[in-house]
Amino acid sequence: MSLISAALGRISPSPTLAMTTRTLELKAAGVDVIGLGAGEPDFDTPDFVKEAAIEAIRSGRTKYTNVDGTPELKAAVCAKFRRDNGLSYEPSQISINVGGKHTLFNALVATVEAGDEVVIPAPYWVSYPDIVQYCGGTPVIVHAGAAQGYKITPEQLEAAITPRTKWLVLNSPSNPTGAAYSADELKALGEVLLRHPHVWVMADDMYEHITYGDFRFATVAQVVPDLYERTLTVNGCSKAYAMTGWRIGFAGGPAPVIKAMMKLQSQSTSNPCSIAQAAAVAALNGAQDFLVERNAAFQRRRDLVVERLNAIPGVHCPTPDGAFYVYPDVSGLIGKATPGGRRIGTDADLIDYLLDEARVAAVHGAAFGLSPAFRVSYATSEALLAEACSRIADACAALR
Ligand SMILES: Cc1ncc(COP(=O)(O)O)c(C=O)c1O
Repeated sequence: MSLISAALGRISPSPTLAMTTRTLELKAAGVDVIGLGAGEPDFDTPDFVKEAAIEAIRSGRTKYTNVDGTPELKAAVCAKFRRDNGLSYEPSQISINVGGKHTLFNALVATVEAGDEVVIPAPYWVSYPDIVQYCGGTPVIVHAGAAQGYKITPEQLEAAITPRTKWLVLNSPSNPTGAAYSADELKALGEVLLRHPHVWVMADDMYEHITYGDFRFATVAQVVPDLYERTLTVNGCSKAYAMTGWRIGFAGGPAPVIKAMMKLQSQSTSNPCSIAQAAAVAALNGAQDFLVERNAAFQRRRDLVVERLNAIPGVHCPTPDGAFYVYPDVSGLIGKATPGGRRIGTDADLIDYLLDEARVAAVHGAAFGLSPAFRVSYATSEALLAEACSRIADACAALR
């Protein structure tokens, strides 16, 4: 009899966290490595958010709360969905969880079982397929390469749906590509979904507030109101408010799903940290204007990285509309050899080479289900990004 469960045997450790750990180990050993692997803003949590947490500690809000969140945070989330997305949810339709990953985990564990299929566009955020597999479900991967802007088409969605499809997971702006669906693109996908009333939509909007230029964020329940009754709209504080360590995620959706998520949470984590919840109330209800300045900084970094990567022969880097990632296609480098005679057969080989020779850490495309490519997180200073791009360019130029 095996000690470790079969369910756990179906999943792997997060490859993005593995790269972060490898980078930290190299840095601790004194190696001058530039980390472009981490999926978090380098900005600090805003002071007014920290102050709210300190006040929560001082005033004794340090006890258990309602399992699925404090009334104050649920009210703030309802107000956020109304203000930002034109979506009307009652508190009974809101779930507060220990980070966005926990929100998605709860939703999938509460609904997916053996035989169920979940449609996941690739490149995908690394955890979706693993959580589905943990549940015993089957991820149905729909590939969308650089040539189609890393976005699936209505035809591809139609072809992927079967009588067993339970969910479509739609992440926009995307981790790992930064690609974002316009309202019209969402409507076109929505038309397909309206023809298949058994399919639910999990909209992962974690990067909603990090968008650039003229792009206008939209979410599916807003632009296709007929899908409201079968959409779970997932969001959180981690990315917009630089609160990755505080662990607050949330969702709005039909009350039965929300109730099922609460049931699961009541037997696992119980409530999210009371202090983090108080901080999240401040973040959601407070002035949002600091986002403009931060996005301007992100946009400058995006432009720098896209330009520098596109100048490298064999690399093609689309310009994304959101998040803080780019996903260069490296088809032109596959098959080449390093100065030491190692063949670059895959994007994982390229990433190993870049780490060993250029001292730049990024994550290989295979981890996100679409190769050959790699993910660059540009949530770091322009000076470091410029240096990292020079190192990558030199290393790529040395390939034969
Ligand atoms: C697309 C996407 N969804 C969800 C999450 C989870 O966010 P959190 O850190 O709040 O768990 C992340 C974090 O990297 C993400 O990139």
